[in-house]
Amino acid sequence: MDIAARESRYFFKTYNRLRLDIERGEGVHLFTKQGERYLDMFAGIAVNALGYNHPRVNSAIERQLKRYIHVSNTFYQDTQIELAERLIKLTGFARIFFTNSGTEALEGALKLARRWGRDARKTAIYGLTDSFHGRTLGSLSVSGRGKYRDGYEPFLPNTDLLAFNDVEELRQKVDQQTLAVVLEFVQGEGGVNLVSREYVLELARLREKYGFLIIADEIQTGVGRTGRFFAFDYFDIRPDIVVIAKALGGGLPLGAFMGEEKLSDVFTPGVHGSTFGGNPVACAAGIATLTELIDNGVMQNAEKMGGYLKGQLEMIRTSYPKYVADLRGLGLMIGVDLLVDGTKVVESLFEEKVLLNLTNNRTLRWLPPLIIRPEHVDYAVSRFEKVLRKIGTQ
Ligand SMILES: Cc1ncc(COP(=O)(O)O)c(C=O)c1O
Repeated sequence: MDIAARESRYFFKTYNRLRLDIERGEGVHLFTKQGERYLDMFAGIAVNALGYNHPRVNSAIERQLKRYIHVSNTFYQDTQIELAERLIKLTGFARIFFTNSGTEALEGALKLARRWGRDARKTAIYGLTDSFHGRTLGSLSVSGRGKYRDGYEPFLPNTDLLAFNDVEELRQKVDQQTLAVVLEFVQGEGGVNLVSREYVLELARLREKYGFLIIADEIQTGVGRTGRFFAFDYFDIRPDIVVIAKALGGGLPLGAFMGEEKLSDVFTPGVHGSTFGGNPVACAAGIATLTELIDNGVMQNAEKMGGYLKGQLEMIRTSYPKYVADLRGLGLMIGVDLLVDGTKVVESLFEEKVLLNLTNNRTLRWLPPLIIRPEHVDYAVSRFEKVLRKIGTQ
C-alpha cells in the first residue's frame, strides 16, 4: 500500500492531504522521497516561520533533549521561565500561561475572562463572523465559520457572533453584561480579512464605556508573521488578553496566552493547568525562534519581503484583472481572491512544485516562511502567473 492508501485505511477522514511523500525539509523547501523539491509558500500554515531544519532551533532542541524532555509543571523549569521572561519583556503584558496548541490557549483566555467577570456578572462573549479560533467547543462557540461549527451545537451559553466590521451592530449588541470580544485583527481561515480601523476604534471606545475585555487571537498573525510581533501593533489599541501559538514553538507544539496587569491575580493555584503545556523542548525551540526573529532580523525581513511579495502580486492583479479580484494582507500574510477555480490554481501550482493553500474556496493564502528571499518570491510569483495564463486559455 502506498502512503495515501495507508492513511485512508487508518485515519478518521478529517484531512484532505497533499499527495506528497516527504523525506525532509531545508530552508523554504520540502523534498520528497523521490528527490523532488517543492517551494513551500504556506509554511505549515504559519508554523514554520524559520523554515525547515533551522540550525539554531535544532541545536536548542538537542541541548534541551539531553537535559530533560519533560518534568511536570509541579517543578520550576528554567527554559520555560526564560521564554516567559523574553515574551513578557518584549510585549509588555504582565502574565503568561503556556499551552500545547492554539485552541487550548484560546480556551484558557476564555476561562481567564470568565473568572475575571464573575463578580460583575459579565457573561456575554462575542466572536466575529468568518472568524476561526480553534476546534475545541469553547473556541468553536466564538468562531464564525460555519464550515467548522456546523453539527457541533449546542455551543457555550451566552456566546454570540457580531458581523465582521459592522460598527453599528457592535454598538447595538455590546453592553454592561459583555464579558469579552474575541477577534483576529487579520482573519486567517476566513480569507485574510483585515479588521477596519473604524471598527477597532469603536471597540476601544465601547470597552472604555462598558468595561469588557478584548481578546486578540494572534495565533496565526502573531510572532512576527505580519512584520510586527502582533497584528494589533498596526492599530491604535491594546487588547487585555493576547493568544499566540503556531510559530511560537519553532515547529513544536506550543501556545500561550498573556494578560494585562489587572488580570494578574484572577487565577489561583489549581484553577487552571496543563500536563504538557510549556514543554521544555518546545520552549527551548521558542527561545531560539525569538532570537532569530527579534535579534537576528527575521521579523524585519518579514516586513520587507511582505512588501515585496505584495508588490509583485499587485502587478499580477493589474495584468490579469479577469483572474484576480482582490489582494489583501499585512507582512507575509497575503490573500489573493481568485475569479477562476481556486482548487485548479492550487493543483497547477503543485505541478509547478510550488505549495500554496486555498482558504474560503477562492482565496489563495500566501504564508511563506519569514526567512524567504526575493528569488523565492520571484519564482513563486512567476509560476503563479504561468498557471493563471494556462487556466485562462483553457
Ligand atoms: C486564528 C487562529 N486561531 C486558532 C487556531 C487554532 O489553533 P490550533 O490548531 O493550534 O488549535 C488557528 C489555527 O489555524 C488559527 O488560525
